[in-house]
Amino acid sequence: MAESQKKKSRASFSSKIGYVLSAAGSAVGLGNIWRFPYLAAKYGGGIFLLCYIILALTFGYTMMMSETALGRMTRKSPVGAFTTFTKSPLAKFGGWINAVIPMIIVPYYCVIGGWVLRYLFEYITVGTKRVAGDTFFSNFLADAGSQELWFVIFACLTFIVVAAGVNSGVERISTIMMPILVLLAIVIAIYSVTRPGALGGVKYLFVPDFDNFSIMTVVAAMEQMFYSLSIAMGILYTFGSYMKKNVDIETSTWQVQVFDTGIAILAAMMIIPSVFAFQGGDVATLKAGPSLLFISLPNVFESMAGGRIVGIAFFLLVALAALTSSIALLETSVSTFEDELHRGRKTAITLMFVIAIVLGSLSALGYSLLGGIRLIGMQFLDFFDFLSNSIMMPLAGFATCMLVLRVVKISRIEKEVKISSKFRFEGVYRVCVKFLAPVLLIVILVASVLSILGVITV
Ligand code: PHE
Repeated sequence: MAESQKKKSRASFSSKIGYVLSAAGSAVGLGNIWRFPYLAAKYGGGIFLLCYIILALTFGYTMMMSETALGRMTRKSPVGAFTTFTKSPLAKFGGWINAVIPMIIVPYYCVIGGWVLRYLFEYITVGTKRVAGDTFFSNFLADAGSQELWFVIFACLTFIVVAAGVNSGVERISTIMMPILVLLAIVIAIYSVTRPGALGGVKYLFVPDFDNFSIMTVVAAMEQMFYSLSIAMGILYTFGSYMKKNVDIETSTWQVQVFDTGIAILAAMMIIPSVFAFQGGDVATLKAGPSLLFISLPNVFESMAGGRIVGIAFFLLVALAALTSSIALLETSVSTFEDELHRGRKTAITLMFVIAIVLGSLSALGYSLLGGIRLIGMQFLDFFDFLSNSIMMPLAGFATCMLVLRVVKISRIEKEVKISSKFRFEGVYRVCVKFLAPVLLIVILVASVLSILGVITV
């Protein structure tokens, strides 16, 4: 991000809309297009969506407001923001855990980004047929060389942009590309939901069926909300620190939420109804997990007139959305190292490059060469996703709540927000930050651990 580069002088977003677009640009990524639809499919459709929306409006809203306000108050990224208020080791830990999460996500994010590039390449060079076959994706996963190659290409793209410092250009591209992505997603979603048999999918996605409810529905919805809204990753602290005092924190938080959730729902509307139209709502496909996007959409493009062009455009836009997000994640990680290690930007980038290649390769090869290795029963990619989202994010969020409640105090946050906002939902904020958020964060953590131990099942 341009803003982070000008960090030394603490640049500000030039306008309100600049803030909202940048925050939305970083929020919208693989989380919306790849992760949300597969979780919605896996965790019961409508009931998952309902939980997600309720949680976003209460819990998500509270976390976003807290992080942004703390960032704007201290003008620091997470480690600095935490230690501004107290030098206790716990505060330092709280700051660091927020800062380390993007470092764990970047590597596997680049692996999925590589998958997107591979599909884009297929649509450009071959067409729609082969990729719509049943075995294309599994063969690709099992091909170690190809996994590593596409991962490295995506990682290099991310690192080159961050190292060259041309992020501001990318940011500009993303503001042009975002509306095109939305339009294209609307077209594909309309096509997808009007296929014969697709209505079952629309019903599955929008009509909550309480039989599908389990505690894991709530847990998965909470984790997804953190991931998608970039909560508990230091991002909103950093963004808040670049925000001018006259930007309305509350309104911009709503705008980012609406935009981000809207895109996630659109993505689910492209994908879930197509599973019903092309695979008859096959339960195994619905529960396919991370591979869902790569299995069901190719069928849509194969059956569509002009599917190849649509496929190219779609995967190109997803690749760009993923790239802008991975750049934001990397930039945050690099600036943490820069600030805390005091060794300069080059060293910070090199260090992150090594981390990304090592951890990313483990994820990329986890389906082939390293397929025999399981960490608490998971492949590397799933493990890193689990570690960051299910274990570290709740801890990071909890640290933020404790900082607000114990050290900074709610009244100071409210004062900060009120500089530029009416703070219409002050009551909601208070209740959530005091009770709901800490309790739910502990619930996520405990449920995740129990599910790994096999005590609760999905
Ligand atoms: N929220 C992004 C997504 O949905 C991921 C991300 C997190 C991007 C943090 C940037 C920073 O894909």
